[in-house]
Amino acid sequence: MLDHPRLRLAPRMSRLRPSPTAEISQRLRRLAAEAREVINLGEGELDFDTPVHVRRAAHDAIERGETKYTSVAGTQVLREAIRDKLHNENGLDYTLDEIIAGPGAKPLILDALMATVSPGDEVIIPAPHWVSYPDMARLADGEPVILPCDAASDWKPTPERLAAALTPKSRWLVLNSPNNPTGAILTAEELSALARVLAPYPDVLVLCDDIYEHIRYDGLPFATMPEVEPALKSRCVVINGVSKAFSMTGWRLGYAAGPAPLIKAMETLQSQSSTNASSISQAAAVAALREERDFMDEWLTTLDERRHIVLEAIERAPGLACGRPQGAFYAYIDCSGLIGRKRPDSDVIKTDGDVAAWILDASGVGLIPGAAFGTSPYLRLAYAVDTDVLRRAMQGIVDACKQLG
Ligand SMILES: Cc1ncc(COP(=O)(O)O)c(C=O)c1O
Repeated sequence: MLDHPRLRLAPRMSRLRPSPTAEISQRLRRLAAEAREVINLGEGELDFDTPVHVRRAAHDAIERGETKYTSVAGTQVLREAIRDKLHNENGLDYTLDEIIAGPGAKPLILDALMATVSPGDEVIIPAPHWVSYPDMARLADGEPVILPCDAASDWKPTPERLAAALTPKSRWLVLNSPNNPTGAILTAEELSALARVLAPYPDVLVLCDDIYEHIRYDGLPFATMPEVEPALKSRCVVINGVSKAFSMTGWRLGYAAGPAPLIKAMETLQSQSSTNASSISQAAAVAALREERDFMDEWLTTLDERRHIVLEAIERAPGLACGRPQGAFYAYIDCSGLIGRKRPDSDVIKTDGDVAAWILDASGVGLIPGAAFGTSPYLRLAYAVDTDVLRRAMQGIVDACKQLG
């Protein structure tokens, strides 16, 4: 600002916080610059390489000259692949004008809100929640209404709490299963119970953020609202993408399916912002969605092993506790046992932010405080790093907890 005394930011900027995950990464980079070993367990990104057949499809697209603008909603072949994926894997039938591809799931969620939320409309967000939903609701001139969930209900929104949160201003209910940050998976029965509460509110739309669909453990099945409750399909938007399941975060490719007028409005927004997802990423996503998925079993076995490493270490860490995550690649750790304890340098730990700062200082391991996800005192740990690195990080966390007075 000092360099630009005349630069005035728009009021909407005051409604946004910088992503807390980016903040912790910055602190980690600072420690790394001091030549300390740092391990970032804050980032929601798998360490696996994008599968080779997907990378090859991208090369082939470049060689074929598919390097130009595509239609805004995505190439026809990609939308057909998405249509077939939704039909074959989720029992959902959509026409091509009910499907849009975009540069990640993230901008599509924002577009869905931007296209539908009027000033003051309420967006119901069960907490703990992905960091971006409340800011996106505010960016769209809406009011985030946080629906608190707790460990006692396995971090899932209950029908009673949803009923208490609904008002005439409610516009959206955001569902995210498997959940970031808790890993909780909503069952078909639980979705039906929520649908019954929504029945008398025909203006409330349901955003089903299914981005972690494929990352589930212990053979748990996946369910999404429009599949379980076809009567609600006309007011559901399914959000998904290739970032998590195919380790393609950097390719920026997500998709949405929902009622044609909403998808059309999202297309209009995209036509005036990003235009279309990268043509090369679109070709790669066709291969990801259409071709064999043998690699996924191996990935899930590795992630499951890491999940156990995390849970076993948390049991050994005084002051920490964690339930068994059902999906995604996060552990949501209760650190209430460390609040009020003393750092060796005599600072008293008061918040989950203080716990994360202590663990970072003592062991070089970066975790995200639960405050970023709307519940405290918790820590989110992403076990998406190399297994041996994870083992070292977990030992560092255990040692850091033991050093507290
Ligand atoms: C719950 C949730 N939704 C959406 C996204 C964004 O996915 P994409 O990389 O496709 O934009 C993330 C990424 O962390 C996420 O955790």
